[in-house]
Amino acid sequence: MSQYSDEIKLRRTFAIISHPDAGKTTLTEKLLLFGGAIHVAGAVKSNKIKKTATSDWMEIEKQRGISVATSVMGFNYNGHKINILDTPGHQDFAEDTFRTLTAVDSVIIVIDGAKGVEAQTRKLMEVCRMRKTPVIVFINKMDREGQDPFDLLDEIEEELQISVRPLSWPIDMGQRFKGVYNIYEQGLNLFTPDKQRITESVAFKDLSSPELENYIRHSQAQKLRSDIELIDGVYPEFDRETYLKGEVAPVFFGSALNNFGVQELLNCFIEIAPEPQPIQAIERKVDPHEEAFTGFVFKIHANMDPNHRSCIAFVKICSGKFERNVNYKHIRLGKMMRFSSPTAFMAQKKETVDEAYAGDIIGLPDTGNFQIGDTLTSGEELHFKGLPSFSPELFKYIENDDPMKAKQLSKGIDQLMGEGVAQLFTNQFNGRKIIGTVGQLQFEVIQYRLLHEYGAQCRWDPIHLYKACWIESDNKESLDNFKRRKSQYMAKDIAGRDVYLADSGYVLTMAQQDFPDIKFHFTSEF
Ligand code: G4P
Repeated sequence: MSQYSDEIKLRRTFAIISHPDAGKTTLTEKLLLFGGAIHVAGAVKSNKIKKTATSDWMEIEKQRGISVATSVMGFNYNGHKINILDTPGHQDFAEDTFRTLTAVDSVIIVIDGAKGVEAQTRKLMEVCRMRKTPVIVFINKMDREGQDPFDLLDEIEEELQISVRPLSWPIDMGQRFKGVYNIYEQGLNLFTPDKQRITESVAFKDLSSPELENYIRHSQAQKLRSDIELIDGVYPEFDRETYLKGEVAPVFFGSALNNFGVQELLNCFIEIAPEPQPIQAIERKVDPHEEAFTGFVFKIHANMDPNHRSCIAFVKICSGKFERNVNYKHIRLGKMMRFSSPTAFMAQKKETVDEAYAGDIIGLPDTGNFQIGDTLTSGEELHFKGLPSFSPELFKYIENDDPMKAKQLSKGIDQLMGEGVAQLFTNQFNGRKIIGTVGQLQFEVIQYRLLHEYGAQCRWDPIHLYKACWIESDNKESLDNFKRRKSQYMAKDIAGRDVYLADSGYVLTMAQQDFPDIKFHFTSEF
């Protein structure tokens, strides 16, 4: 415990994740509405221009209307400080989302009640499972015809491999949607399709009471009674500890667009969701309540202000208190730095802050000092873990298309890779640079940004590769032998690690068989 513990305990830092179009943006907006952070529905997403000015800063967003950027929104609610980390839904930016998940203590997954579990939800849940992140599920769009809620729960359990426990239950759906029964608080919430109204709930403990029929039709009341009985029979009672271990996901139903079921979700969230949790560094585990400040960079955002070419490094505070104009150690560079204009993200504004606590996210204006994964401390030599790069799926040679701008191109590539936009491998045989991504869109973003931010023109040349593997071995001779034999396929990543670029699954399997002393890793952290 430290003198800051009371502050730290109030923090709830989480991400909302979903397959595109399930309603993540809409839900975020409604949460902000409850927090008083915005005053009208539609403020976050009423049109593309406003949207660009608030949660998405990048020019490219305007061009494509895809939520490329990860942004942070903080607000106060019932004495708690809530930090929502937004994540890009587009699968080509999955790495960005994975990294954001390293900076949160819990997650809300939004699922479209008609579509059920979709590809991107599955992938993101894998990361949550790996990290044992506590997850709450919000099943959205209950105002539309969707799947049977019991079927949805089965699907979630099966596809996301997590036990579920409904804490609210829909009364019918689509045109006949009447509302939800709040199992957690034992209240009946009746639905009026109204995008602005904040609904009130009627306390209703005894569902067997005939009074239920005063609110909903007899057939609906009967169905609700039998559904709740079934739920209580099938699903074990909700246990917060099991949720905090990431073993069971409480489930809520509602309609974000109609602002329905959102406040119930939020009220329950602040009660059960975890406060800032300890974070593992290579050297030791860091407790948020430690006195000394520590934090790491999980995201670098370029050119938020089109008037100057600067970046913002997003730092998750892992312990203690961060203060403006105090010297902190940048561990990778081994130098002390102080920050005169750190920003906090409240609602849609970013503003300069004097202090921030464990659990908070701050933005540090940067001109190239930071890379993803960098650690800042009050002086201790610490390195936070858990920001792995995965083997990319797509690879292309990047070539200079304007001989006068070679320097700009090289600088641009270095900075974009430091931001984690994609991965760079330098082939040790011919010195050519290879960019690896998880989606085609990243190549377009890189090309666009090199041109608009660095004035450099690049060209993509094809290269046929299957996987990038980070290799290591205790047997130096064997490693050297492998590197010689595969010299055409050996590369270095930006940290100077040896990477083998396998051109097919077959070749990789053969290499694994022929060189049993060598370990092939598919992520950069092992
Ligand atoms: P995303 O961030 O997960 O991609 O989803 P987003 O919130 O943008 O929502 C995707 C679409 O689903 C939007 O419609 C939104 O209005 C709609 N939506 C969200 N919640 C609900 C809900 O509870 N019920 C219904 N019926 N629809 C919902 P759109 O037409 O794509 O955009 P817009 O023009 O309405 O903004």
